[in-house]
Amino acid sequence: MKNMNRREFLGTAGAFAGIMALAGCGSTGGNTASTTTAASSAAASGDMQLLTAGKLTVGTSPDFPPFENLENDEYVGLDMDLAKALADKLGLELELKNLQFDAIVPAVAAGGQVDLGISGITIEPEREEQVDFSDPYYIDDLAVVAMKDNADVTADTYADALNQAGVVIAVQSGTTGESYAQENFPNATTQPYGNATDSFAALQSGQANAVVTNKAVGAKMVADAYTDAQVIKEIATGEEYGIAVNKDNGGLLSAVNDALAELTSDGTVDELTNKYFG
Ligand code: ARG
Repeated sequence: MKNMNRREFLGTAGAFAGIMALAGCGSTGGNTASTTTAASSAAASGDMQLLTAGKLTVGTSPDFPPFENLENDEYVGLDMDLAKALADKLGLELELKNLQFDAIVPAVAAGGQVDLGISGITIEPEREEQVDFSDPYYIDDLAVVAMKDNADVTADTYADALNQAGVVIAVQSGTTGESYAQENFPNATTQPYGNATDSFAALQSGQANAVVTNKAVGAKMVADAYTDAQVIKEIATGEEYGIAVNKDNGGLLSAVNDALAELTSDGTVDELTNKYFG
């Protein structure tokens, strides 16, 4: 599992380097100094728009460990470290805004509330109609989680066992887990919760028979907070996480991509992945 996540991440970095090479820009020549200049000059040149001068305002839904979570009122997780590293690269102060997940893409699209959405957001065609996405920084899958003492739902039986009238599948509203459940368990009731944690609470209290969420999150939740539940099946969606940017803010999009390229080539992204998955 550990190695899998790391391999997936390196795969992303590799794909990313390839994209940058094709575009004829970025760090594939190994010249970190020149890419550093690229990101900071994009930040300095003023062609990127910010809600507040000197600040990078980022919307996130902190209910999704190990990507974003609140611990003692502090934002923690891979995405939160990445947001901080991006802000540092751009010479900006980071301000985080707590938004319900299904409100993040609309908030980025509408403008006026946040500059970026960083929240384990899967790059998807319908979302790309509303916002632009950075190059991908992580690749995830989905997972089906059920209670350990529920012998009816196993890797072998779940497809039929969960696709029954009377079965409730808890998901976070507006997520890839929600669409997966609706499409694959059409006879069951897919119950959306605003907060990802509430879908696990529903499972634990017996209001739901299963949760569909992303693989990294399912694994983290059953390891830490919901130890009486287990991942019964991983579904290889290979979904790519990206940072959402307003479509009219091409300057910010380039600055984010340049900064991501630098953070990849200087090993920061590797370090962060090791910190959370190593
Ligand atoms: N990756 C999934 C999606 O984009 C779920 C993301 C949920 N993120 C969160 N911070 N709760 O739909």
